[in-house]
Amino acid sequence: MSGQSDFHAAWSAPEAFRALGSRRVTVVGDGLLVETVRQEVAQATARFGGTIVGDTGGGAEGGADLILALNTQPDKPEPDAESFTVARQNGVTTLLADGAAGLLYGFFHLVRLGESAFGADHPAEHHGPAMRLRMLDHWDNVAVHDVMGQVERGYAGGSIFWADGALRSDLTRVRAYGRLLAAIGVNAISVNNVNVHAVEARLLTDRLDDVVALADCLRPYGIRVHLSVSFAAPVVLGGLPTADPLDPAVRAWWADTTQQVYARIPDFGGYVVKADSEGQPGPFAYGRSHADGANVLADAVAPHGGVVHWRAFVYNHHQDWRDRSTDRARAAHDHFAPLDGQFRDNAIVQVKNGPIDFQPREPVSPVLAAMPATRMAVEFQVTQEYTGQQRHICYLAPMWREVLDFRPWGDGGARIAEVAAGGGPDEPGGGLAAVSNVGDDHFWTGHPLAQANLYAFGRLAWDPTLDPAAILDEWIGLTFPRDASGVSDLLRDTLHSIMDDSWRDYERYSAPLGVGFMVRPSDHYGPGVDGYEYTQWGTYHFADRDGIGVDRSVATGTGYAAQYPEPWSQTYESVDQCPDELLLFFHHVRYDHVLHSGSTVIQHIYDTHFTGAEHVQRARSLWAALAKEDVIDAEVHARVSERLDEQVRSAEEWRDQINTYFYRKSGIPDALGREIYR
Ligand code: GCU
Repeated sequence: MSGQSDFHAAWSAPEAFRALGSRRVTVVGDGLLVETVRQEVAQATARFGGTIVGDTGGGAEGGADLILALNTQPDKPEPDAESFTVARQNGVTTLLADGAAGLLYGFFHLVRLGESAFGADHPAEHHGPAMRLRMLDHWDNVAVHDVMGQVERGYAGGSIFWADGALRSDLTRVRAYGRLLAAIGVNAISVNNVNVHAVEARLLTDRLDDVVALADCLRPYGIRVHLSVSFAAPVVLGGLPTADPLDPAVRAWWADTTQQVYARIPDFGGYVVKADSEGQPGPFAYGRSHADGANVLADAVAPHGGVVHWRAFVYNHHQDWRDRSTDRARAAHDHFAPLDGQFRDNAIVQVKNGPIDFQPREPVSPVLAAMPATRMAVEFQVTQEYTGQQRHICYLAPMWREVLDFRPWGDGGARIAEVAAGGGPDEPGGGLAAVSNVGDDHFWTGHPLAQANLYAFGRLAWDPTLDPAAILDEWIGLTFPRDASGVSDLLRDTLHSIMDDSWRDYERYSAPLGVGFMVRPSDHYGPGVDGYEYTQWGTYHFADRDGIGVDRSVATGTGYAAQYPEPWSQTYESVDQCPDELLLFFHHVRYDHVLHSGSTVIQHIYDTHFTGAEHVQRARSLWAALAKEDVIDAEVHARVSERLDEQVRSAEEWRDQINTYFYRKSGIPDALGREIYR
């Protein structure tokens, strides 16, 4: 087992603290989170020659050139407030936080600003998070699972929380994780897999000590711990004959059990539930709705200020490919939209960003627009299950921005980011949740550059209007400075060249035009054009000799397009109006169908597959060229090089399998006569 203190600094490179650490700093306030900030300041000033100049501030006269203060004015007692104001006047930078968490987030804001926080005077700027809940879900198993290993869909080693069937004895790394997450504003973590196996179920009861320890470890960073629980817990843990959510004994069991959790963890966040999904138990067994199911848990946590994240990932995973009427894309909307208005205020319906399952390209889930009277959270997947499994570079922020910017009700209507943010303090939304990509790997994320995805998730949950390239730039600046001169321009430019558009490159060389799921079954890595076509998990491309795509129109298909409000239902219904990148998600068309781009579907497939693979080859050359320059640590360079070799191999495999498959099906040659294996 790797040492728990042997890990990469990620976006807390010591050099990133230089600007702040060389100042004369005053920290004003008391409490756990203020202490965290004080320790941060002490560490930074000790390293870079600054000083701490007492707790009373006093501005320039008192000698401080940076004041970090908790606003203790009587009209401002918002202990949970996460917002802060930064100003610079007469050569003194002041951070005034509205609550202790705001002080912590403001501190890291100043770290991001670096020297520019100490430049010219400027008036007060107020900052606060767009989303109240900014959460990471860990799909970590306490015990190594026989099929899924320790971290389900984990590509970065074992769990940072659990080892050998128990909580790790050394939580140094969990603490460091909390610090990294505080630096990007994440304020909630669920610490176990949504597929709750026997050992993990017991975290709720006789293994609660472990959760207490994690909560203690993460609390100084403003992070609340949540648990994934089994809907069948009253039966499997409580010994009751039923888990029927309307049974009074079941309700009492959840209330009592939850009471005991809060007695030990007063700031416990709440429950995450995957019910009636891929074999997990749920309310359907008792003829109850998902609102009934969610509400019994919501009622249990409500007196303590907790929430329930109830996942909308409910579909039939025992389909028959011969049956053309079942459409997995429809399932979440069919199940959940009719329940709008029936969920408690503290029950959040957590919806994957697309209707199927974290494919590289899907339309935005229509469920997010169908439940205006329900708190909705958007779920993203930072772990790269379907986007190269942290062997490929695939910077996901541009995809997430597209989702967050989508306006389901058309121009002038709300964006998805606003649906998740909710309607203000009295009507909070469910925020953003994402499946973490972290493990006990030295670099945290297997591929060192995959750290950028975790970084970007937190930053977008804080401010969904941030530009992905600007986020990447921040991450580079905080991760790769080697000395006072910061990050070399060459490294910065190279990283932008190979990462900015890497999601679109992944899309280019994998499944075309939104069709999805052409992956190897079960492990989901690499091409498997027909991998799922005849399985119980759904059918995805319907390719024949004439054409390809799934007809989800109302006129001739599954009717899925009608789940969107206008104007999108019409746009998606129409072959002519449907955006190219989603054409095969919504329509079955001929290979010679002409896209808006002017290319035919088949030529588009060939072109994008050659281009995507070429871009990866170019990325590898650009990265290799850094070896001669002294701009990055050798260990990072070596790990990324090794992964790029695999990415090139895999992208070429994708290119050749997809091109050959469609050449064989269609018989139409590449207009440019490039090499397609026959
Ligand atoms: C995907 C993934 C599973 C996971 C599931 C979920 O299907 O492959 O491993 O359990 O999503 O989100 O619950």
